[in-house]
Amino acid sequence: MTISTEPAHTIDPRTFRDVMGHYPTGVVLVTGMLDQQPIGMVVGTFSSVSLEPPLVSFMPMTTSETYAKLRQAENLCINVLAHDQSSVCRTLASKDPEKFHKVDWELSDYGAPQIKGAVAHIHCRLDQEVEAGDHYISLCAVDDLQVVRSVTPLLFFQGGYGGFSTTGMAAYLDEELISAVRVAEAARPQLDRLADTHRCSAAALIQIDETAQTIGASSYGGSTEMDERIGVRIPLIPPLGEAAVAWSPQQSQRWLDQIFPQDEEVIFGYRQTLEKVRDQGYAVARIGDSDQEGYVQLSEALREYGLGELTPVREREVRRVFAESHRYFGGSIGTEETGLNIASVVVPVFDPAEQSLRNSGLVLRLGNLPQGVDAETVAHWVNDLQQAADEVRDTLGSVAQRDFTRYRATELRGGA
Ligand SMILES: Cc1cc2nc3c(=O)[nH]c(=O)nc-3n(C[C@H](O)[C@H](O)[C@H](O)COP(=O)(O)O)c2cc1C
Repeated sequence: MTISTEPAHTIDPRTFRDVMGHYPTGVVLVTGMLDQQPIGMVVGTFSSVSLEPPLVSFMPMTTSETYAKLRQAENLCINVLAHDQSSVCRTLASKDPEKFHKVDWELSDYGAPQIKGAVAHIHCRLDQEVEAGDHYISLCAVDDLQVVRSVTPLLFFQGGYGGFSTTGMAAYLDEELISAVRVAEAARPQLDRLADTHRCSAAALIQIDETAQTIGASSYGGSTEMDERIGVRIPLIPPLGEAAVAWSPQQSQRWLDQIFPQDEEVIFGYRQTLEKVRDQGYAVARIGDSDQEGYVQLSEALREYGLGELTPVREREVRRVFAESHRYFGGSIGTEETGLNIASVVVPVFDPAEQSLRNSGLVLRLGNLPQGVDAETVAHWVNDLQQAADEVRDTLGSVAQRDFTRYRATELRGGA
């Protein structure tokens, strides 16, 4: 079957390419075996066609030498490339006869090369070819398919490769991050002292935009080891980050707006948490014996969020884990308690320029703390931490003032 329609106007090929270039595509590698040799073609025209029966399509150029071989292969595999596979894509798009030696692949059960690290493999067979001008529409019948790595896919747009990001994870400008890290560095002497005295990790977390903070500086004492990287996004989504938002009505509201679904009772609970944090002057996360597994899950979800390669489906799942971890946060410590397992203690650094207590965007956090302690020890940690925060506040108002002013000007501190 062929398609032939006369255009109403003559179309300039450059205009055609230019207009089509404004539409992004995904990137797949269509592979097959011919004479026991792997063949592969990078394709941006892949599409899902029909569910009943399951059909997919792609559009090769009629003159493509690669496709001339590929169409003879008995089985094909559509490899949906991941956001971090642009180099795999470049290698396979080249005419290098050795290119399949340079990427990681294996033969699938269906007898076509499947690329490792791809998002999905769709095993299919060529069913029909429709001639469409200088391309074919190649329809393929799907035999089997699976997602092998649930991360964001590679995208192609106006000649360049890129990735997909949801608004919640949008990347921040390096310049903003650098200015934030400089401010956090102002807490360096206090972090070193705290980590050393209490044999724990001490970190300065700084807000980088409306929905996230990051570790800007950290110090490790005793036998604790570095387990978080500087610059990784930590979301300000309940229950995380209550000490960072509690002293600003606007930020508190934005934080509460992140709760999904907006259940009145849950929102009320979090309002009380924020009030408690303001009253006692610190936030504490505690882990009961039965909570260990849930806390590991939370750490894993945070790590995944920080990598910034979440698909929207994974992001929803990760947010569910955040939401379920509310029981560790927002607590307080009774004066007589013993055998306490504290995951973290966080206090705000207040803005040196304000008379009233307003968060500067910076909080100090102790983590990896000794376990099974009594209330007196926790009170001691809180005390030292608050003293350190006061010192850092003074630094922000004096020697680090220039960095702090720049940070406040570049960051989206709206109402901080
Ligand atoms: C991102 C990207 C998308 C592409 N999409 C298609 C496509 O949909 N159809 C096609 O025929 N070629 C496409 N190509 C070009 C082929 O991958 C390949 O370069 C071409 O088939 C080489 O010509 P040959 O087969 O004659 O060696 C694409 C290339 C890139 C880099």
